Amino acid sequence: MATGSFATSLNRPQRHSHGTSRLFALAERVQSDKISGLIPSGSALEAAVELSASERNSSLATCERDGRNKNRAYAPSKPYWNHEKRMSEPVNTSRRRMAIATAVVPGAITGAAVVAPFVATLAPSERAKAAGAPVEVDLSTIKPGEKVNVEWRGKVVWVMKRTPEQIASLEKIPASQLSDASSKKSVQPSYVNAKTRSITPELVVMEGVCTHLGCSPTSKLTPGELGNDWLGGFYCPCHGSKFDVAGRVFTGSPAPTNLSVPDHKIDGNKLVIGITPDGKEA
Ligand code: FES
Repeated sequence: MATGSFATSLNRPQRHSHGTSRLFALAERVQSDKISGLIPSGSALEAAVELSASERNSSLATCERDGRNKNRAYAPSKPYWNHEKRMSEPVNTSRRRMAIATAVVPGAITGAAVVAPFVATLAPSERAKAAGAPVEVDLSTIKPGEKVNVEWRGKVVWVMKRTPEQIASLEKIPASQLSDASSKKSVQPSYVNAKTRSITPELVVMEGVCTHLGCSPTSKLTPGELGNDWLGGFYCPCHGSKFDVAGRVFTGSPAPTNLSVPDHKIDGNKLVIGITPDGKEA
C-alpha cells in the first residue's frame, strides 16, 4: 500500500529542473505517510524525513530569493507541506549530523554483531579441545565378553574384553575369508598384534565405525547368530558388511578395510585412548 504510493511519486512526471527534486518528492510522500501514522515516532526514518524536509525548504527558499520561484523545481501539494511557514528556516546542521549518526552507528553495530559470531566460531571451544584430548577408561569394570562404547574425537570407540573362546575363534578363520587379513590396508598401529589386532589378546580397542560409509555395526557376538559358520563378530546393517571379533572384514562385504584401531596405551586397569604406549599423543 505505502510502497505503491512511493512508486507513484517516483514515476510521476515532475515540473522540476534540478536533480534533488525527485528526492524532495519522495520526502513529501514519506511525510504524508508519517502523518498517516505509518512511520514510528522517534525512529531513524523519521529523523531522515525531517532532514529531507529541512533541505527541501532550504532549496525552495533559495529559489524564492533568486527570483526563480516561478520556475521552481518542485510544486508541493498543499495538505502535506506547509512550505510558506518553514521557508525561512535555516538548514539545521545539528539535526543533519544526528540523522547521519542514527543511520550509520546502528549499521556499524549491526555489522560488528554479524562479524563477531564468525570470529568466535574460529576459536576452539572447551568442548572441541576436550574432544581431541586422550580419554581414560577404567578397565576394572569391564567383564570378559563385555563391550563398552567410549567417545573419542567425536567417534565411537569400542573397548571389549574378549573371552578365551573369542580369542580362539580368530585362529579358526582362514585368511582367504578376510579382505585384509594382515591389515596392510587398514588403520592399525604397528605395536598391536597382526592377528588379534590388539596389544594383549584379551583387550581389543577399535572404532565402531564401518569403513564402508560410516554406519555403526551392531554386535553379533553369539556363534551361529548369522549362520552356521558364524563364530561371532559384528554386522553392519546398512549394506551388510561382516567383521570378526578383531574387526577384520570378511570378503564379500562392501567395507574395503578392517575397523580402525586407534592409538592406545594400557597401564594396569587404566586404558588411555589417544596416546601411544610410549606416551606420545596421537
Ligand atoms: S556403511 Fe557399513 S556396510 Fe555400508
